[in-house]
Amino acid sequence: MRSQIIGTGHYLPKKVITNDDLAKVLDTSDEWITTRTGIKQRHISDPKSGETNSYMGEMAARQALDMANLSPKDIDFIITATCSSDYRLPNASCLIQERLQASGVPSLDISAACAGSIYGLNLADCFIRAGQCKNVLVIATETLSSVLDWQDRNTAVLFGDGSSACVVTANHQDDSGFLGIDLYADGTQSKNIWIPAGGSLNPIDEEAIKNRQDKIHMNGRETFKFAVRALCDSIDVILNKHNLTASDIKFAVPHQANLRIIDAIAQRINLPTERFLINLDRCANTSAASLLLAYDEANRNGRLTKGDLVLMLAIGAGFAWGVGLYRV
Ligand code: ACO
Repeated sequence: MRSQIIGTGHYLPKKVITNDDLAKVLDTSDEWITTRTGIKQRHISDPKSGETNSYMGEMAARQALDMANLSPKDIDFIITATCSSDYRLPNASCLIQERLQASGVPSLDISAACAGSIYGLNLADCFIRAGQCKNVLVIATETLSSVLDWQDRNTAVLFGDGSSACVVTANHQDDSGFLGIDLYADGTQSKNIWIPAGGSLNPIDEEAIKNRQDKIHMNGRETFKFAVRALCDSIDVILNKHNLTASDIKFAVPHQANLRIIDAIAQRINLPTERFLINLDRCANTSAASLLLAYDEANRNGRLTKGDLVLMLAIGAGFAWGVGLYRV
């Protein structure tokens, strides 16, 4: 028995901000952002008009449920990956569960930043293989624009808002589903991407706001180097474990942080960049949402064929990361 994705969905906010728009308010340019990252534009949500983190999660979840031909009541567990939920309490999953009118369904959040979706998929896979659940709804929804320092060109140009979701279910029929997911973390790297204030240690006060400590701080260069090394090593491990090589992979679905990171990984594992499903030019880095967002687009566009082997990979603040192998 394997756990299989039977429905996917995503939501992108209506408002689009291009690199040229940012260049009007920041010391940056379309040329710098495009050549250093591959990003051309990002979607930015408008929570005050209702486009909240939980609304976006609900929209993606409804699409995934529709494709799976299931109603919210058929779901045994809701897992939401986010680091930008509507409130510190309660969790985003409960807010989305209320929106879906699925009272009673256990609802849990995952805090693993950009690795949230791969962590969520692993948890769903474990619940299903343990026999605890039949259908698990995995949602990833991010409004990172709310914690971006819009005066910091090092981070403001990199991120976008959006959500994605999938329904994972038990498959007893054939070999479609997850072959395996490996998760990792290295807390010694925790201050390479972090928000210094707003937790219980450093509550937000005037001083914190003045020093922009309530916003994302990132050591981009260290993150870049670590991401390439950690993901490549983990890909080697999972391929060896399953007696596979890169040539067996039809598509890789990476976390969408930077085209240069994807190119470096593609080169090192010897898988052409064309086999990577990429949308960061249009969506930028939507943190936890990015992996399933790219997967859903490919799924809806008919790019995935039954039997295809898909490699999933994501890394984020922590650092936390994971790689998975999935048979469509
Ligand atoms: N526009 C113009 N210049 C800029 C900008 C900008 N937007 N941002 C930085 N610069 C400048 C810097 O100030 C620096 O100038 P200096 O040399 O005068 O000091 C110069 O460009 C080069 O800066 P670097 O940081 O060396 O640029 P680099 O080529 O490393 O690219 C980037 C920076 C894009 C951030 C890259 O390091 C990167 O993508 N890192 C990984 C980020 C990532 O993967 N994050 C994912 C996890 S996010 C999460 O988990 C929530």
